[in-house]
Amino acid sequence: MADSTATGDTTAQANIGVIGLAVMGSNLARNLASREGNTVAVYNRSAEKTHTLTSEHPEANFVASETIEDFAKSLQTPRTAIIMVKAGAGTDAVIDQLTKVFEPGDIIVDGGNALFTDTIRREKAVKETGIHFVGAGISGGEEGALKGPSIMPGGSAESYETLGPILSSIAAVAEGEPCVTHVGTDGAGHFVKMIHNGIEYADMQLIAEAYDLLRKVGGLEPAEIADVFTEWNQGELESYLIEITAEVLRQTDAKTGKPIVDIIVDEAGSKGTGVWTVQNALDLGVPVSGIAEAVFARSLSSHREQRDVSTNLPGPSNPWTVSEDDKKGFIEDVRLALYASKIVAYSQGFDAINAGAEKYDWNIDKGAISKIWRGGCIIRAQFLNRIADAYDEQPALEALLTAPYFTEALVRAQESWRRVVAGAAGAGIPAPAFSSSLSYYDGLRAERLPASLVQGQRDFFGAHTYKRVDTEGTFHTLWSGDRSEIEAVDTH
Ligand SMILES: NC(=O)c1ccc[n+]([C@@H]2O[C@H](COP(=O)([O-])OP(=O)(O)OC[C@H]3O[C@@H](n4cnc5c(N)ncnc54)[C@H](OP(=O)(O)O)[C@@H]3O)[C@@H](O)[C@H]2O)c1
Repeated sequence: MADSTATGDTTAQANIGVIGLAVMGSNLARNLASREGNTVAVYNRSAEKTHTLTSEHPEANFVASETIEDFAKSLQTPRTAIIMVKAGAGTDAVIDQLTKVFEPGDIIVDGGNALFTDTIRREKAVKETGIHFVGAGISGGEEGALKGPSIMPGGSAESYETLGPILSSIAAVAEGEPCVTHVGTDGAGHFVKMIHNGIEYADMQLIAEAYDLLRKVGGLEPAEIADVFTEWNQGELESYLIEITAEVLRQTDAKTGKPIVDIIVDEAGSKGTGVWTVQNALDLGVPVSGIAEAVFARSLSSHREQRDVSTNLPGPSNPWTVSEDDKKGFIEDVRLALYASKIVAYSQGFDAINAGAEKYDWNIDKGAISKIWRGGCIIRAQFLNRIADAYDEQPALEALLTAPYFTEALVRAQESWRRVVAGAAGAGIPAPAFSSSLSYYDGLRAERLPASLVQGQRDFFGAHTYKRVDTEGTFHTLWSGDRSEIEAVDTH
């Protein structure tokens, strides 16, 4: 048995190691150590964190090292180490050190929030040494890391044979199944984690818009809205995010006695994964408008100077109010608008997964992805079972919202959805994610879009050509000549 207080013990006793012992790494290491059969090696750049962890958690019997060389020696071969350091240069620095002390066949896992293109680059470089490199998205924050996160590993199928059982043992469990699956090769895991975070942004923004409407139009106090969310959490909206929203809204500030939501500055921050999702979706040509609106809503909220000089801009003169008799119906309208918009956000997220899989040649099982998001991660929800069912029934489903379950839900919700979006616009209450989701839905179902006019404009100023509805081929109108039409080379 390993000695928790010893450092520099060079006998190979650990079957798994963790590098980077800040909040995520130390919790993940403790999670690993709590599982039958695991002996966990730990190492951190500054030894102080290592000492704190081993002294605070003697029950974990960590094998601690103060140098990367001793860390490598403390691992049984083939060695497996999970890096949990600051994403970016920190990750590159640790990979560089590990490749010097690891041997071919060993496995390096990056469990940080890496950009998937970095993971693709790192996997390619590390593979040359004969060492396996696995980028694994880990979601669930510090509690998830300790009690069971949702894990999205990429990398080779061969490395997953070793890694799969270890990751399964520490992952969250949803309906008896561990929340981990081999997502695909190289950067697939981090790509899917990025999309997960993008969906998370949209989900949070939609919930925030629902709260705003219930408060400003429904006249409900935060504690009453908390009760509404608690009730919603019993039905089709059941999710971790709805649950914690109720908790936040019920919280009062100890200092002032006011609802904490009124004390917190209304400027939302971000760590960048939502931005990555939108940037990559733009590159992939996938309209993730709900996610983009959520990212932009956070950035608008943070432009304090612009907001300060804009508060006197005129709004509509008629506020939207609901009578006591209509309140129940209004709350139900908001619930349905939230549900419909949420379906759109997830549908867009899965479209981005499809497009990424195609571009980077990943074979991603979308049903399996929705299942591993049912537990451990921030967007965990019952609803994900419906997505899994939809992909089980039709693996090549073109658009999630055309699956029968979701179409029925949208049909049921759409009158409410339209009332809420129209009402918010009329009253001057921003609801960017609600309204863009509805526009997306209407855009998809439209038989004709004004894109034909856009093509005409493009052809007018740039001879970008167009297709005709009635004839094969590519055409151009001689706009500055006699305006006759000629056949042209497709210059899309
Ligand atoms: N926090 C979350 O909820 C969450 C959720 C999912 C994923 N993640 C990801 O998990 C990873 C760890 O997150 P965290 O919040 O626990 O820690 P963090 O604050 O992102 O990073 C701190 C850790 O990185 C190490 N580090 C930084 N630069 C280094 C370098 N050049 N060489 C070696 N070590 C270096 C630090 O070592 P020293 O102690 O020596 O400074 C420390 O152990 C990150 O990639 C993060 O994005 C975080």
